[in-house]
Amino acid sequence: MEWWNDAVVYQVYLRSFADSNGDGIGDLAGLRTRLGDLAALGVDALWLNPCFASPQRDHGYDISDYFSIDPDYGTVDELETLVESAHELGLRVLLDMVANHCSDQHEWFREAITAGAGSAARERFLFRDGRGAHGELPPNNWQSVFGGPAWTRVVEPDGRLGQWYFHAFDASQPDFDWRHPEVADHFDRVLRFWFDRGVDGFRIDVAHGLVKSAELADWPGADDGTGGHNYDMWDQPEVHEVYRRWRRIGDGYAPDPKYFVGEIWVPSVESLADYLGPEQLHQAFGFDLLVQPWNADRMRAAVDRGLGQSARTATPPAWTLANHDVHRTVTRYGQAQDLSAPVPSDMIAAARRHGPADLELGVRRARAAAMLLLALPGTSYLYQGEELGLPEVVDLPRDARQDPIWVRSGGAELGRDGCRVPLPWSADAASFGFSPAGAALPWLPQPAWFGDFAADTQQHDPSSTLSLYRELLHSRRALFAPSEPLLWLASDNPELLVFARGSAICAVNFGERDAALPLADDARVLVRSTSGRDIPGTTLPANSAVWLTTATGPEHHGLRPTTEDALAR
Ligand code: NOJ
Ligand code: CA
Repeated sequence: MEWWNDAVVYQVYLRSFADSNGDGIGDLAGLRTRLGDLAALGVDALWLNPCFASPQRDHGYDISDYFSIDPDYGTVDELETLVESAHELGLRVLLDMVANHCSDQHEWFREAITAGAGSAARERFLFRDGRGAHGELPPNNWQSVFGGPAWTRVVEPDGRLGQWYFHAFDASQPDFDWRHPEVADHFDRVLRFWFDRGVDGFRIDVAHGLVKSAELADWPGADDGTGGHNYDMWDQPEVHEVYRRWRRIGDGYAPDPKYFVGEIWVPSVESLADYLGPEQLHQAFGFDLLVQPWNADRMRAAVDRGLGQSARTATPPAWTLANHDVHRTVTRYGQAQDLSAPVPSDMIAAARRHGPADLELGVRRARAAAMLLLALPGTSYLYQGEELGLPEVVDLPRDARQDPIWVRSGGAELGRDGCRVPLPWSADAASFGFSPAGAALPWLPQPAWFGDFAADTQQHDPSSTLSLYRELLHSRRALFAPSEPLLWLASDNPELLVFARGSAICAVNFGERDAALPLADDARVLVRSTSGRDIPGTTLPANSAVWLTTATGPEHHGLRPTTEDALAR
């Protein structure tokens, strides 16, 4: 079995993890001092959001040099040392590959601007003449994911307005033309450069986006402004050649081949499957679970779709409930749950809704959701701060917000800053221990209440969310053996999801009332998401979860496999 098959990967938003030099920005050296904490938490691998040289317009997703580390974060040597230290602790390290676009400060793009229309330098990007009598209209109607047109007009070397270039995201993030051979060659070199420095793999940013339809014609479909439905802009067949090429490079590092997980938003599990398998990517994030509301049927259906896809592609699923692009689970699950759309039409927006949240309820549900996630077969991705039960910071001062989504929408969209606020490590220290004493203020302000969630307070409190995560991560593998498939168990209560893997059972009560679990005497409750009250073994409180084992097998408890599963067996 490969290391990633049942790994728990912890996502480090480096800028907000730990600051070593007091500039208010998290960095590699800060992360290195905290590696012991992550190993103690019990994770297997780290994924670092982009740390390459970047003007930070989209916090590292705008790369100006793929072969260097941003001075905010450290140096290439420090990255190498970090990887070595992580490996000594048994932690793998994944970086973030942003190959769809670079920064407008990348030397290729600067060269393209000065070289002018018709130059070879422009062919590495998507430059086109505008429409209209004077080229004053964008070349097509495609919209940027961050709002507004996906085209920006340039000032030509002669000082006049000229061609337009395409950017799926911010104007500071020009898209490469992946039909140009030099682009592919460049990324081969980038991969090898970091692999040769010990990096174990990459998370691939917008992996479905690299190649656009050759015609760049107007998109006739209804445009919801997110670009998410424009399938001339995404998911082109030629993109698979990129991943075949990358896989060959990664496999060249056998006996310890490199690993790829894709961020892929496509409309069906069938098209997702096209990216996976022994010749392309090892895994793709299962965002389906992340966008579901707190509801037993919806969660179960998403798990089933994920397992179905996993079976079809013979790749373990990569589950996740949170990342740096969506609101935190505590806040999402504490909001009124929207059950109206069977599958959310704009998937990211579904996980970034505004609205009041009952945070106490949100924490209960987020803790139960973590127990569901970590009991599933496959890989789990955890976003930093989820283990502290952090809520989204929705009340950031307006002038502190930096996300291009906030900027481009003129403040109509809060954007993603609220899940990126620097972590609270110590309740009583300045900047809650994020930076050393006497440091500059953190790059995003931490609210006063952040101290209530500090890691040092939670560390020794057995009822804290941090303690729960530690317990889950340490018991997970022994309990739910990787080889044990998931078997749903029938219960009379529609709010209850119960599944077994081998002799271990995970039960989640999505309802607002305590539920009774039909358990025989030999059932042993191992972990509960709720604490603080004496709960009889057979009761599962509202909005909570439990892990238990049974010596005799689930059938002994009146927990029969559900009919479909029984038939499927
Ligand atoms: C997806 C990343 O997760 C997000 O943070 C980024 O803004 C866009 N891709 C553009 O790179
Ligand atoms: Ca720093």
